Amino acid sequence: MKKVIIDVDTGVDDALAILYAVNSKQLDILGITAVSGNVPLEQVNINTNKVLKLLAVEDQIKVYKGADRPLLKEPYHEFRVHGNDGIGGALDHIDIDIPENEVFAPDFIIEQAKKYKGELTLIAVGPLTNVALAVRKEPRLAEWLKEVIVMGGLVQSAGRGNTIPTSEFNIFADAEAAKIVFHSGMNITLVSLDVTRQVLLTEEHIEELQGSKYYDFVKNSTVDYRNFSINLYGINGCALHDPLSVGVALDPDIVQREKYYVDVETQSELSYGQTICDFRNLLKKEPNVNICVGVDHEKFLQTFLDHLKG
Ligand code: BDR
Ligand code: CA
Repeated sequence: MKKVIIDVDTGVDDALAILYAVNSKQLDILGITAVSGNVPLEQVNINTNKVLKLLAVEDQIKVYKGADRPLLKEPYHEFRVHGNDGIGGALDHIDIDIPENEVFAPDFIIEQAKKYKGELTLIAVGPLTNVALAVRKEPRLAEWLKEVIVMGGLVQSAGRGNTIPTSEFNIFADAEAAKIVFHSGMNITLVSLDVTRQVLLTEEHIEELQGSKYYDFVKNSTVDYRNFSINLYGINGCALHDPLSVGVALDPDIVQREKYYVDVETQSELSYGQTICDFRNLLKKEPNVNICVGVDHEKFLQTFLDHLKG
């Protein structure tokens, strides 16, 4: 089984990504690392532990808390999309005792990458603060990790960001961290909005889950998320950004990739967090990021629903 660590800022679609990863039974999840993002770190920790309890794997998979703020900028959260608690209040009924865990997330990532050199895939579906801290502390992480699958950015659909016109949330939330990661030498696949917007969970899909243990959670947690999407984009469905990143770990052929030089804008107020891809190699720099140029959305959605149905 592929060994993975999932770095999350749980978040509705982060929660769906965890459900998908665990239910696939095809990933050896060494741990889940938490980062400030959609909601503050403490809430990310609560949400993630609740999701693990919903899945009844709270004794097998541990959550490691990491950065409680971006490297340089002020925290930016996304309550509009994910609701006040980040998961649309959908797990209010679950009581948890959050286990004590003193290991800092970036240290956990370094430790596991060292232990499983060349074997570990990191799936990062929140701002890249934990990953940047880890690779700054231990640059050999770039050699040790097999792959880093990053949900973030947009490269082909310029102007169609989801936070500011140029920028996607995870990169916008900590562009300095993203810049460090993109230039770290890691083997990066960028699962950007260009492809994640092609995998939409609609109301009809959700109804297909009736009878499954996760139906209520999926339906209730996505209400705000779907309303936001209808109002802003006229789309009644939620883009499965983070689950698709897990999907890439499960089935690398679900996306088509091409490697280019990609950099991150950190100076401009107008375009902070923009991911700029040098498609024409005008800058003559070594390609550093595998971008996704296509996705088999039907196959992905079917697999996602099948795993959630159990
Ligand atoms: C990304 O931002 C977050 O709001 C989601 O969880 C996802 O990781 C999409 O832009
Ligand atoms: Ca996320």
